[in-house]
Amino acid sequence: MKLWGGRFKNEESKLMEDFNSSLSFDKRLYKEDITGSMAHVKMLAKCGILTEEEGNKIAEGLKSILNDIEEENLLIEGDYEDIHSFVEVNLIGRIGELGKKLHTGRSRNDQVAVDMRMYAKAKAYEVIENIDELLNTIKTLGENNNVIMPGYTHLQRAQVVTFKHHMIAYYSMLIRDKKRILSDIEILDESPLGCGALAGTTYNIDRELTAKELGFKKPVDNFMDGVSDRDYLISLLSSFSIIMMHLSRLSEELILWSSKEFDFISISDEFSTGSSIMPQKKNPDAAELIRGKTGRVYGALMSLLTTMKGIPLAYNKDMQEDKERFFDGLDTVLKSLKVMNGMLAGLKIKEANMYNSVKKGFLNATEAADYLVNKGMAFRDAHGVIGSIVLYCEENNKAIEELNLEEMKKFSILFDKDVYEFIDYKNTLKRGIKKNI
Ligand code: ARG
Repeated sequence: MKLWGGRFKNEESKLMEDFNSSLSFDKRLYKEDITGSMAHVKMLAKCGILTEEEGNKIAEGLKSILNDIEEENLLIEGDYEDIHSFVEVNLIGRIGELGKKLHTGRSRNDQVAVDMRMYAKAKAYEVIENIDELLNTIKTLGENNNVIMPGYTHLQRAQVVTFKHHMIAYYSMLIRDKKRILSDIEILDESPLGCGALAGTTYNIDRELTAKELGFKKPVDNFMDGVSDRDYLISLLSSFSIIMMHLSRLSEELILWSSKEFDFISISDEFSTGSSIMPQKKNPDAAELIRGKTGRVYGALMSLLTTMKGIPLAYNKDMQEDKERFFDGLDTVLKSLKVMNGMLAGLKIKEANMYNSVKKGFLNATEAADYLVNKGMAFRDAHGVIGSIVLYCEENNKAIEELNLEEMKKFSILFDKDVYEFIDYKNTLKRGIKKNI
């Protein structure tokens, strides 16, 4: 069932038909396609290109198709080239010859372009909602666990931080991710409907009207660009990739922290899996999958960038390749946000283990050097003195604060009893991180 064929003598090969068909994946655009068509006929009638009665009949037919799809009385399947053909052929089947007037002053090129923009915009808002939920969970988790933990650089224990501070780092990343998506929406928010195949149409149509009807800020400026622009999808996939990169870093930390080597957290049973052979295992598969799926979203971005790079203006069928990759990237980021949210909501923090790890890691060494600086020593010299103290502590299996004043004075006479208060972990936090949260 094709929308073309007049100029052909022979049947299309079955292989080609199958190769060309996009219905199996663009069927998810049914709502946007029908809504776009409804706005189009409404405009055609307003502009006197169709009579009001014709416009109403077509709109009713379209509405009944939408209802039937939503109520699962009409399945999107069969021998159709794409969702646009599916809807149009169905419309003609329902309302007869009049249905053939729907495509007046329109091409599938501007039709698919407007469908994709509407879909991408709605889904981008859904991604934002999911980011918002995750932001809330992260904030609550941090606030409920404002406990001391080691902060790392080079994955070596570095300075004291709090679990809350660590979580708020991800909160900040996700706030930027949200801003990026909002800016993607702002840029894509123009309607390509009315661009025709590439050069507009001879009918006196009203692009402002359809743009407004479909909730866009305005019509696009240029027809050729309007039908062949896919950079908004690339932008969104790039924003999705950055979200995944952030989720993947967090996943990596959750995986490390849940290992017995760290033992800082425990991931709830709901988001863990077991081993088929080792009965003791509880694996952080949710986090590993998010980390793994990050590559998949990067792949979608690279794929679309590569598809688009050599295409001359305006529409070319290569562009049909935008859909599966975009849909997959979108589905993956949405699921990953939800799974991360569920995993964090049930996370248990092992405060005592975090604290022990702080004690064993000389995490007040920098502050001990700062103490000497406050007493007049140059920082580079203080660094050297504390380095020697750490070595001494390691050899004697002690923490810096466990040395008595006499031992300390052997390294520098500047040490006094106020040093203990200065290098106390909670006090170092008060002077450092607390100022930042
Ligand atoms: N399935 C096509 C796509 O996704 C719809 C546009 C078809 N346009 C055309 N000139 N054949 O790009």
